[in-house]
Amino acid sequence: MPTVRILAMPGSARRASHNRRLLRVMIAGAEQAGAEVSVFEPNDHPMPLYHGDLEETEGLPPAAARLQGLFAAHDGFLLATPEYNGFFPPLVKNTLDWLSRPLPDGSGRPGTIHVRGKPAGIASASPGALGGIRALQHTRQYLSNLGFLLAPEQIGIPHADKAFDAAGALTDERLRKAAEGVGAAVVRLAQRLQG
Ligand SMILES: Cc1cc2nc3c(=O)[nH]c(=O)nc-3n(C[C@H](O)[C@H](O)[C@H](O)COP(=O)(O)O)c2cc1C
Repeated sequence: MPTVRILAMPGSARRASHNRRLLRVMIAGAEQAGAEVSVFEPNDHPMPLYHGDLEETEGLPPAAARLQGLFAAHDGFLLATPEYNGFFPPLVKNTLDWLSRPLPDGSGRPGTIHVRGKPAGIASASPGALGGIRALQHTRQYLSNLGFLLAPEQIGIPHADKAFDAAGALTDERLRKAAEGVGAAVVRLAQRLQG
């Protein structure tokens, strides 16, 4: 069976992001399940706010075209997203909205062709008591609209400002296993889809 390749993205560009830490735990779970994981770091691939006129005059931003190529080369997706007012943040929406636009080769096919039918796993970390779970239901619906197959496993990490040790490990065993479990679930789904 070929090695499963997973693309992972933090939904926050913040240097001290709790969600980037959470993503590393999800990645560990995916790697333990046998996957190779690449990280798409938003700080390294800035995209302008989506604007139809900009797209018409300049086409897809280079970072969005790169992301389309990355999805084409990967079998699944992991996203650790912050919750902003009960929703996922504009960084996630803007990045993936650009991804969904037609391909730069002018074929006119929607960019989501590269994500259709690929498994995705989601989780959230928040300093608040609910761990960002309100954002997860919207994230699930949005990714599903883009064509991803969502793994049922998900986890919200509450009190995230105190949940990780200095090495970035989740100190609560149950939460660590759940976060790793999201990563592993996406790998298992991708392996099944490979047949
Ligand atoms: C505009 C805004 C809205 C927020 N709304 C929520 C919220 O609805 N629920 C919540 O748990 N935290 C909320 N927060 C706090 C974030 O969870 C917190 O800033 C978190 O650290 C962001 O994730 P990051 O650490 O990965 O950047 C909000 C923060 C911002 C900036």
